[in-house]
Amino acid sequence: MWSTKTNNILGAIIVAVWLIVGSNYIGNLLIPPFEPVHEATAKSGNSEAPAKKEAKKAEPAQPLPILSASANADKGKKVAKKCVSCHTFKKGGKNKVGPNLFGIIGGARAKAAGFKYSNAITKMGGNWSYEDMNKFLTKPKSFLPGTKMAFNGLKSAGDRAAVILFLRSFADTPAALPK
Ligand code: HEC
Repeated sequence: MWSTKTNNILGAIIVAVWLIVGSNYIGNLLIPPFEPVHEATAKSGNSEAPAKKEAKKAEPAQPLPILSASANADKGKKVAKKCVSCHTFKKGGKNKVGPNLFGIIGGARAKAAGFKYSNAITKMGGNWSYEDMNKFLTKPKSFLPGTKMAFNGLKSAGDRAAVILFLRSFADTPAALPK
């Protein structure tokens, strides 16, 4: 009964099994298993929780999250309540303790007509880029030593992004969003 046909069939089965086992083995070699959490845990030598915490802490180090889903002008309007005692935003709005901020994002520094700026800001000159505004609003007195703006700053990057988007909307042509 041991015919060539039986041999062929057995051969085919062996080849099939070999292909399945072999390709699985090669596949594992090519694509290492993806276990980021475990890896981080192994490196820090800690339990899972601290590894997750680390990832969270790293967040504020990111560049301005202007384009993040959480930042929007509506949220910025709420954050801007901290500014309205000193600033107006609309075109032609008056200067209060601080200057009117119409067209401020991408606009020239210290350009509000009739406002008496500090020497610090007039000397700095230049334009308000997103980056500058992010730094300024983090801690005004660090970015602009000698500024008259008596405001401690916004600690939350999300708040800064949102208020910057809100400010941006007050312009004849809002500045292009950062890429
Ligand atoms: C206590 C009053 C006060 C508060 C609150 C305040 N500012 Fe100011 N702001 C000022 C003053 C005063 C200046 C002028 C700074 C100078 O001359 O050095 C200024 C300047 C600025 C400028 C630069 C304007 C220009 O023409 O170049 C920006 C931008 C600005 N403030 C944004 C904000 C935002 C956004 C907030 C809220 C998160 C805020 N400020 C809160 C008083 C304030």
